[in-house]
Amino acid sequence: MSSVVLAISGSLRERSFTEKMLDLCIEGMGEDLEVHKFYPHRMNIGPCTGCWSCWGRKGQGECVKKDDFEQILDVYKRADYLLLAAPLYFFDLPATVKNVVDRFFVILEPAQIRSPKGETKHPKRFGRHPKAVLISSCGFPEIANFDILRRHFHVICEHLDWKWAGEILISAAGAANAPRLFDRKYALIKKAGTELINENISQETTDSIAAPVMLAEDYRRMSTLNFAAGIMAKAEMASIAIKVMMGKDDPCSVEEKGM
Ligand SMILES: Cc1cc2nc3c(=O)[nH]c(=O)nc-3n(C[C@H](O)[C@H](O)[C@H](O)COP(=O)(O)O)c2cc1C
Repeated sequence: MSSVVLAISGSLRERSFTEKMLDLCIEGMGEDLEVHKFYPHRMNIGPCTGCWSCWGRKGQGECVKKDDFEQILDVYKRADYLLLAAPLYFFDLPATVKNVVDRFFVILEPAQIRSPKGETKHPKRFGRHPKAVLISSCGFPEIANFDILRRHFHVICEHLDWKWAGEILISAAGAANAPRLFDRKYALIKKAGTELINENISQETTDSIAAPVMLAEDYRRMSTLNFAAGIMAKAEMASIAIKVMMGKDDPCSVEEKGM
């Protein structure tokens, strides 16, 4: 039987890099899939208003809002995999994606119980929980920019009983337009998809995807020049790009690997 994939594509940009990462992961997961991809910003999904109706005696797990979140919830109830793909916005999820996460409140029961780890949790209304993967890209060079989002995703998984199965993170995503520079990363993202189908995404693959491709200082300069006008800016950008593509610096071997 095909595996059901619930994919959230959370970038609001038309040619989203994070969506490209999502698509490569799905490609690596193989053919035997039933994929449902959702774009929260194009859907009519209102915010959770905290009315508690879904916890009331009448509500019993039903949200009073009858909007497009129902489409996501219908797939969620059958999903084997949940791929949450979103660009980093101010060190966390874009508001449109967080809005979707908030609406999962409806799957919680009101009771507060002690978890095996000694923390307080709510029981869930469904006994079936998907394997969950975080996919994200960001514009700054340091991978540490994802620290808050990574922690946040872990907490979301813990409290919704999603089975955390890995993360695919790329910093310095502004360099993705340079020819061939990210080709190895693209192959590795497909590998991550294959690993996910077999078990979880390995640490080795996660680290290789996240590995820097250029010095942080070069990246900052290129990104700055990208928004500057004039032929001199373009020429300097090209010279940095050529240096990087010829592999003159090994970003891992210098002090400021930083990415
Ligand atoms: C509103 C906004 C907030 C952002 N916040 C961050 C941030 O906190 N850290 C960072 O490194 N990049 C940040 N970025 C850059 C994006 O994360 C980056 O360009 C990403 O690769 C875009 O992915 P996409 O092409 O899928 O939209 C921000 C961009 C926008 C528009």
